[in-house]
Amino acid sequence: MRNVKNIAIVGVGQMGKGIAQVCLMAGYNVILNDVQNTIIENAASYIENGLKKLEKKGQLHGELTAAYILEKLDTTTNLVDAVANADYIIEAIVEKVEIKQKVCKKALDNSPNHCVFASNTSSIRITDIAKTCSKSANVIGMHFFNPAPLMRLIEIIAGEQSSKEAINIGIEVGESLPCLRGDRYVPQVLKDRPGFIVNRVLAPGRIYSEYIYDLAHKQGIPWEQVDADITGPKEPMSRLVLADFVGRDVSFHTAEYYADTLSPDFAPGEFVRKQVAEGNLGAKTGRGFYDWSKGRPKPNLSKKAGIVNPMVYTAIGANEGCRVLEEGVCRSWKVIDEAILAGMNFPGPMKAATKEYRQMAKLLDKYSEKLKKQYLKPIELFKSGNFRRYE
Ligand code: CAA
Ligand code: NAD
Repeated sequence: MRNVKNIAIVGVGQMGKGIAQVCLMAGYNVILNDVQNTIIENAASYIENGLKKLEKKGQLHGELTAAYILEKLDTTTNLVDAVANADYIIEAIVEKVEIKQKVCKKALDNSPNHCVFASNTSSIRITDIAKTCSKSANVIGMHFFNPAPLMRLIEIIAGEQSSKEAINIGIEVGESLPCLRGDRYVPQVLKDRPGFIVNRVLAPGRIYSEYIYDLAHKQGIPWEQVDADITGPKEPMSRLVLADFVGRDVSFHTAEYYADTLSPDFAPGEFVRKQVAEGNLGAKTGRGFYDWSKGRPKPNLSKKAGIVNPMVYTAIGANEGCRVLEEGVCRSWKVIDEAILAGMNFPGPMKAATKEYRQMAKLLDKYSEKLKKQYLKPIELFKSGNFRRYE
């Protein structure tokens, strides 16, 4: 297998900057690429601050210093220069298939023949991203979770044309990247379906969320109360802070993509359309559901709105987990739960469903009628409880 030394990170916004930091910490030479110098400068100072913080706490590996690691960092706004000597490219640009296709093609046309192109897409099939490039065997998915330095999960996805060698290199690179909270979990996604494992299982829950957001917006219910309804007691970040943290644009674009590829029932709701049109995208623009101008918001969740049934989320997720098993995206419900825990820091829905699938199926029948969303109906593998055989 090829030895990866040089990694180019294309797109260094929210995700790219964290990915670049862990690549540097693993010892790779890293080059940052984005369309504007100011964005690259922001990313470079995020990385520098992160490394200095770790140095101060004695958490850099062995004798390493922040200054030594930063010597391996380079930057450019020119994509062709960024990839000229790359062994491995990680793309973390906007979640739009046409733009990703263009960048994929240009990056692979201008990099060495052996170079792997790994997309950090949240939802788009890798086969679709590789469609217009001439080296589709070199294209894989490498899906990090936000923030990449702190979240353990990296899903490695094989497109229909990805070579075994590219996948193995992806797994090797993923496993080599340090995580500041626990050990990396790097499962291989076995079938190239939209959303892969974690985002796919959680995706239809957003149909319910968007319904709730539209309702709350119309009735003028404060977001903190909606947040108090949705957020589980042990979750590390409240659900609406998380939605802002991920970015309402990311949710919007993925909903559009799922509406095209999985079911029209995923079409974005009215409120998220309004947020995106007004540029209220969350943490990255300073406002989403909450105001981020003074840093991460700390909502008061003491009062609930009483408009959400939390069990509906578990039921919807477990039903989608059964679709994931049926389609061969992964082979075990335990992998689904493990991946959700590593990527989201909250428990997956499958274990609870092994005991309560009958009540959950009834709930899904009720809510698919109420929301007029056929996609939420329980599938046979779920209703029968036969998914429990996929251990
Ligand atoms: N470099 C160095 N240190 C860093 C750092 C960095 N880049 N980032 C954070 N740290 C340090 C902090 O300084 C802090 O250090 P101290 O403890 O010494 O103060 C420590 O790491 C912990 O940081 P936080 O205080 O920010 O940590 P927290 O306890 O508030 O936890 C969290 C943060 C782990 C992100 C937690 O809030 C969480 O689990 N949230 C949920 C996140 C989540 O669900 N992500 C997935 C989103 S979905 C997705 O990503 C998929 C998709 O496709 C959209
Ligand atoms: P972001 O908007 O913060 O960053 C994207 C960056 O890409 C921007 O800085 C933008 O200037 C740059 N860019 C756009 N076109 C470019 C081009 N042609 N060449 C170079 N740079 C370009 O977005 P983000 O939240 O970091 O998301 C990036 C990708 O990661 C998306 O595919 C998203 O779905 C995925 N993702 C996001 C999250 C999340 O929580 N935000 C988690 C996992 C995966």
